Amino acid sequence: MSDAAAIPLRDRLIVALDVATPEAAAELVAQLGDSVSFYKIGLELAYGGGLSLAERLIDQGKQVFLDLKLHDIPATVEKAAAQVARLGATFLTVHAFPQTMAAARRGVGAAPLLILGVTVMTSYDDADLEAAGYAFGVRDLVARRADQAVAAGIGGLILSAEEVSAMRTRVGSSLRLITPGIRPAGAAVGDQKRVMTPAAALRAGADHLVIGRPITQAADPRAAAEAILSEMAGA
Ligand code: C5P
Repeated sequence: MSDAAAIPLRDRLIVALDVATPEAAAELVAQLGDSVSFYKIGLELAYGGGLSLAERLIDQGKQVFLDLKLHDIPATVEKAAAQVARLGATFLTVHAFPQTMAAARRGVGAAPLLILGVTVMTSYDDADLEAAGYAFGVRDLVARRADQAVAAGIGGLILSAEEVSAMRTRVGSSLRLITPGIRPAGAAVGDQKRVMTPAAALRAGADHLVIGRPITQAADPRAAAEAILSEMAGA
């Protein structure tokens, strides 16, 4: 874990609200009650009224991770990050290009919003990068962008669980590492290819875990979240 070692256990669990409408998301949030303090809103929900929901969640004392994966010219990214900072979100993703990360960091100013870099999308392999004109394969590009994230002074990186341990060694405690692709033992893997249990991901050095379907599609989402939190407590 990073110097974020003081983060309370409950704030290490981020539930992905991967639903189409703010109403469906609000229902999940109500079911989860005080068991969950941190929610991720991605592109689908953001374009369907999710930004107003984000404001309401923040008013209720929840933390919000806006997974908007910004990438544009620096002036635009800087102003967009400033707007997200004013909204009161806790995390915002940008693609991990040096100009984009530096611009987002400037836009945040002294606000508590942390910018997270998306290094290389996990849907890309070496052949996809080559076809897109990159000289590096996935592994080397992730490492290069992690170093550039440190240089840009952003808050953290989104990484698959299997990259966390090597990346923790590489960046030390300078960045928070946030990991999706988490499955409690026995849970359905779904479309995730490489998964890790909550406890294993924390032990590998993750600071926050992003978990969606194992909680949101459980018969009892609150019980599922509480079970994951107890597993995390034992890590
Ligand atoms: O339902 P599940 O736990 O698989 O949800 C994981 C969340 O993390 C989803 O919102 C998904 O978009 C996101 N994510 C991911 N893998 C990545 C990046 C983001 O699963 N490489």
